[in-house]
Amino acid sequence: MLLALVLYWQLILAEGAYLGPRLVALLYDWTAPRYNRIKDFDPLMEAHTLGLPLANRVQGQPDALVLDVAVGTGRLPLALLQQPAFQGRVIGLDRASKMLAIARRDLAAHGRRVLLLQADAMALPFADNTFYAVTCLEALEFTPDPRRGLGELVRVLRPADAASPRAGWLLFTNRIGWEARFMPGKTWTAARLAGILSQLPLANVQILPWQTIYDLVWAQKVLRPSEQPADNLQAGED
Ligand SMILES: C[S@@+](CC[C@H](N)C(=O)[O-])C[C@H]1O[C@@H](n2cnc3c(N)ncnc32)[C@H](O)[C@@H]1O
Repeated sequence: MLLALVLYWQLILAEGAYLGPRLVALLYDWTAPRYNRIKDFDPLMEAHTLGLPLANRVQGQPDALVLDVAVGTGRLPLALLQQPAFQGRVIGLDRASKMLAIARRDLAAHGRRVLLLQADAMALPFADNTFYAVTCLEALEFTPDPRRGLGELVRVLRPADAASPRAGWLLFTNRIGWEARFMPGKTWTAARLAGILSQLPLANVQILPWQTIYDLVWAQKVLRPSEQPADNLQAGED
């Protein structure tokens, strides 16, 4: 009985999160053919809460490059690429090859505006300050170290500055609800999350209710005063 409870906790509730990223990817590979049916995404809700708000934030940037970490079956690129206000491109990354295969199939109509690759969220294969926006939905809690994973998302995000005031948008989810209590070290209370975000180079932070088991978090990366060019600082001091 105890063993059955531990297995239920580790494999069903926590989805392998404490047992390593290989097992998490294996479980998602196994779930991939049923994933979209299980989630039963509502296209209107997806557009209203994800695609449109993100498109509006990076609007007017034909070169906007968005990174979706843990893209799964393509949920975020599908919601974003159908927005007329979004003219950029999306890179989607995931560890689970079978999730990526479904994303590749469903995003084929978008051709070269989307690139999918297999990689790990804990070591993003990109230089610092690369992407106009970085997203990560329903996934940080399954990584070995969500706090470090969040740092990786911020690292590759290009900060907003005077030349690109619409850059730097970060969108991710924080697990809430009763199940979050069974994932110690993987999820944050709103107060703890606000504290973590305050230590990162982020502004315009919003933690919004979204689903019964997830809050949606928006924030914008900005340069710290010590990182700003000297002439900007002088202008600010005048
Ligand atoms: C619940 S799904 C979310 C997928 C998609 N973002 C969505 O909202 O539908 C979690 C995804 O995270 C991916 N994932 C988990 N740990 C990962 C890691 N360390 N690196 C990359 N992807 C990971 C899984 O393979 C899976 O596709």
